[in-house]
Amino acid sequence: MRFLTLLPVLFGIPSLATHIDTLFPHLLIPLKSWEPNTAFPTEPDAYVTYSSRTGAQQWTAINFDVPNNNAIMCRLRFLVNTNFAMNAPFALYGTPDFTINISRIKPELVNGVTTWDNRPPITDFYDSYTLMQDADGKATVRENVSEWFLCPKGNVAQFVMHPGSQRDLMLYWYELDYSPENGGPHGIVLEMHT
Ligand SMILES: *[C@@H]1O[C@H](CO)[C@@H](O)[C@H](O)[C@H]1NC(C)=O
Ligand SMILES: *[C@@H]1O[C@H](CO)[C@@H](O)[C@H](O)[C@H]1NC(C)=O
Repeated sequence: MRFLTLLPVLFGIPSLATHIDTLFPHLLIPLKSWEPNTAFPTEPDAYVTYSSRTGAQQWTAINFDVPNNNAIMCRLRFLVNTNFAMNAPFALYGTPDFTINISRIKPELVNGVTTWDNRPPITDFYDSYTLMQDADGKATVRENVSEWFLCPKGNVAQFVMHPGSQRDLMLYWYELDYSPENGGPHGIVLEMHT
């Protein structure tokens, strides 16, 4: 993918925003309101949950290590791989509409130390997605709000994914880097654009 970034220079094409990189999280830390002082280690899979009966919820805190390239603008995407052959691990239950929000946090996550109670404060609200699932189990994601932001190049960028409403929600996925031919990434990614 990287060679594409040279094309506008080599061929004198006026530079248009080009998607040059897709980053996967380096930390996916569970934060559980009902175990507020337990530091759960990073895991390859993640949950966002809400119980309307108890108010208990699980968030996922995310770290991206953003490289120094010639990108300028970044955005997050929540992608679900629906290639039947891949059978990407995914589950969604509760009371529709299923809404998840993503907020940026102060970059102070520490694997094995961060808990629900000591989680870094939210600094900005970025995204709201509505998830849908048809009768065959095929999921789609609607981006209600998806903010662009300046790429924090050479730094970390950290976020929390949390329930967007007080309806019952159980969202589960296992973060996987499928190739475009296989239906593309599965989970939360950070896109870098020139
Ligand atoms: C997001 O979009 C869906 C589908 O159009 C809609 O049902 C839902 O109310 C929207 N949510 C918000 C918070 O705008
Ligand atoms: C999630 O985002 C939507 C759309 O901006 C907003 O209406 C809703 O209040 C947010 N929910 C939470 C819990 O922050």
